[in-house]
Amino acid sequence: IPDPPPGPLNDTSARLVFDPAHPFIAPKATDIRGPCPGLNTLASHGYLPRNGIATPAQIIEAVQEGFNMGNDLAVFVTYAAFLVDGNLITNLLSIGGKTNETGPDPPAPAIVGGLDTHAVFEGDASTTRGDAFFGDNHSFNETLFDELVSFSNKFGAGSYNLSVAAQFRFQRIQDSIATNPQFSFVSPRFYTAYAESVFPVAFFIDGRQTNGQLDMTVARGFFQTNTFPPNFFRSGVSSGLREIAAGIQEVFVPHPIVPGGNNGAVNSYTPNPNSADFSNFCKLYTDFVNNTVRSLYPTASGALLDALNTNLEFFFGPIALLGCTQVPAFT
Ligand code: HEM
Ligand code: MG
Repeated sequence: IPDPPPGPLNDTSARLVFDPAHPFIAPKATDIRGPCPGLNTLASHGYLPRNGIATPAQIIEAVQEGFNMGNDLAVFVTYAAFLVDGNLITNLLSIGGKTNETGPDPPAPAIVGGLDTHAVFEGDASTTRGDAFFGDNHSFNETLFDELVSFSNKFGAGSYNLSVAAQFRFQRIQDSIATNPQFSFVSPRFYTAYAESVFPVAFFIDGRQTNGQLDMTVARGFFQTNTFPPNFFRSGVSSGLREIAAGIQEVFVPHPIVPGGNNGAVNSYTPNPNSADFSNFCKLYTDFVNNTVRSLYPTASGALLDALNTNLEFFFGPIALLGCTQVPAFT
């Protein structure tokens, strides 16, 4: 039986997190890093195991401690990723590529491929990572980061903020529509794309600074090197589902777009009315469980079925508070 998710921090104040107990150590060749600069940074500072293999509870602790992510968001995102990318029996998740370090795999169609796995959680039109179609969905991409810098110069007087995020999020979508014949932009990616555009503003800005402007040298440190800037204080605001949803509105409203995708040809973006969108958050949860998770574990039984249902229960926790109806346990 896996540990239940940790609760919220007692002290959510801004404080030094790049402290002597958490030095930056560049990853060894065998250490795993992936598409998430937040988790990569926590691993390279020892808030997560430096090898890049962690339990859900370790991830929740680390994102709260290191970045002051709110408990509801930490629990929701972590179990979402763990359910589709992690090993439910050993309780381990790779924050990057597939590895035998997470233990023996359950039978296919389960993937247990780590956070790099395309289309179950990771998706297209990322901020500084290319689309899987082009061959690498997880490495820092200098061309994309340069474009982010130029948008920050143009729309943010040199810093990344929510106005820049709105412009850049739209640009990344337009870019994928125009270049990736397999571009997909439906739930859950529809949500995570907007969330990841808000995260740098919520979590990468020093907690002693309250103007919402992310310095681009600091940004490069997180996105590319996976390091805190010197003397980094975590945010003094605990950003959970409510705070990130408010940021998402600011990013979405200037350039609204419906969920959809290209049809095998560039510039063929077609709306998908079956996808959850921002008007129906409970459908994000319901479809993720019934479609995404279920498709990986259509016939689970025994210990695997038990672990699946236990983790689905943990995943539902933050959603219960929003008034969504729980999907019945798998049988
Ligand atoms: C991207 C997982 C927490 C910042 C991603 C991606 C995954 C992921 C799978 C790739 C999505 C994609 O672009 O296709 C997680 C999980 C978390 C977590 C499981 C557990 C709570 C955080 C935190 C931060 C963060 C705490 C900030 C401190 C970001 C950013 C991106 C991202 C900025 C976009 C990367 C880019 O394309 O440039 N995350 N993340 N994440 N994550 Fe996380
Ligand atoms: Mg991606």
